[in-house]
Amino acid sequence: MNAVELIRRKRDGGELTREEIRYLIAGYVAGDVPEYQMSAFLMAVYFRGMSPEETARFTDVMLRSGSTIDLSSVPGRKVDKHSTGGVGDKVSLILAPMVAACGVAVPMISGRGLGHTGGTLDKLESIPGFRTGLSIKEYTDVIRETGLVLSGQTADVVPADRKMYALRDVTATVESIPLIAGSIMSKKLAEGIDALVLDVKTGNGAFMNSYDAAVALASALVGIGTKCGKETLAFITGMDEPLGTAVGNWLEVAESIECLKGKNVPDLMELTYVLGGAMVHLGGKAATIADGMQQCRSAIWSGRAYEKFIQVVERQGGDSSFVREPVRYPAARHSMDVLAPSAGYLTGFDTRRIGVLAVELGAGRLKVGDPVDAAAGIILCRKIGDAVGMGDVIAVVRTDRDGAAEKAAREYCSCVTIGNSPPGRTPRVRATVDKDGVHSWTTPVSPSLPDTDAAR
Ligand code: URA
Repeated sequence: MNAVELIRRKRDGGELTREEIRYLIAGYVAGDVPEYQMSAFLMAVYFRGMSPEETARFTDVMLRSGSTIDLSSVPGRKVDKHSTGGVGDKVSLILAPMVAACGVAVPMISGRGLGHTGGTLDKLESIPGFRTGLSIKEYTDVIRETGLVLSGQTADVVPADRKMYALRDVTATVESIPLIAGSIMSKKLAEGIDALVLDVKTGNGAFMNSYDAAVALASALVGIGTKCGKETLAFITGMDEPLGTAVGNWLEVAESIECLKGKNVPDLMELTYVLGGAMVHLGGKAATIADGMQQCRSAIWSGRAYEKFIQVVERQGGDSSFVREPVRYPAARHSMDVLAPSAGYLTGFDTRRIGVLAVELGAGRLKVGDPVDAAAGIILCRKIGDAVGMGDVIAVVRTDRDGAAEKAAREYCSCVTIGNSPPGRTPRVRATVDKDGVHSWTTPVSPSLPDTDAAR
């Protein structure tokens, strides 16, 4: 077999067999297929796609590039959530301890920032001492003891994705249904779960901009999960503005801590409760998603979710004093207010561009292995629908890089649209996709538990 021939066949729209895919991927992991050939292959897949069968073969080869984790010794159903990536998406940090506090075990293997989107691992590692590089034994010990583990891919688990994910990030080959499906599902199938909830983003900050593309990705992910015997449910959710009010690693951890203590950031917490409710339901602890959402609210409101977060931070080596007192965290060297250029209502964001600005401030990577700056990022002071006066502070940019704040502040203004009247509301959670197809979704309201920090 020969890599050039395989790349050429994919470039020309052909299909590869399992053996051929294995040859490329195993060769890449071993260092026999160089990065320039893997980059060319990824770009060929980006343009030519893969058939559903080829995507399933690709996922299986990725999965078998390393070990799979057996969590059968951990009692109960194990359920995870995965997002296809967004800007300001810190849901995992709130949801994982919240669901674990409801009695469902959450084994979570996450990734680093990819393209313009942030990654849960980079966020967790902004907590001094927090270790995400766990061995399989440590991973199993942590979940057995705490009901929750927040890990990166160990050297043993899906090494192919660890290497390819970093390469895709810097070769503009992220936005591809088979590559995303193979990347996500190989990790999820390796981590020892019984069921999976997926957050598939759509909108101008998502890898899949259009609703139809998001549904196609969700269907591919659900199809692979179902075929592998895991109950899999996807939600199609909006990513037309950053989620919550913080973009950047520590800034997002700090916002998550506030939410774990009961603050209601409406878009962030609606999504967290819906996805969490579905996990509690699939975990067998709630008869319906709505019932699961009520249990999640109670876990937040009672403080159990926050305590669970502290427990896992300490168990994975993190310094929990920064979680207890986020004001102690060292701030970025430069901070600059962004002022509204006109008055009116904020009607839209160029969300992808905001993610890129955060990367340029130091919150993400432009090349494989670039360090990230934990305190860099953007605080959003106005969201879609908010009234804005001319000269109001609409955002604050933070960075350690000299000169970067001025540039980002200038560019942020061109990422927001200010109109004369408030925009119409679009639902944040648009639909669900399961093995039977696409279904409409309306988020149930909470009848009995307080939602806001004012209530605590
Ligand atoms: N998340 C992943 O884990 N992989 C992708 O390719 C995209 C989002």
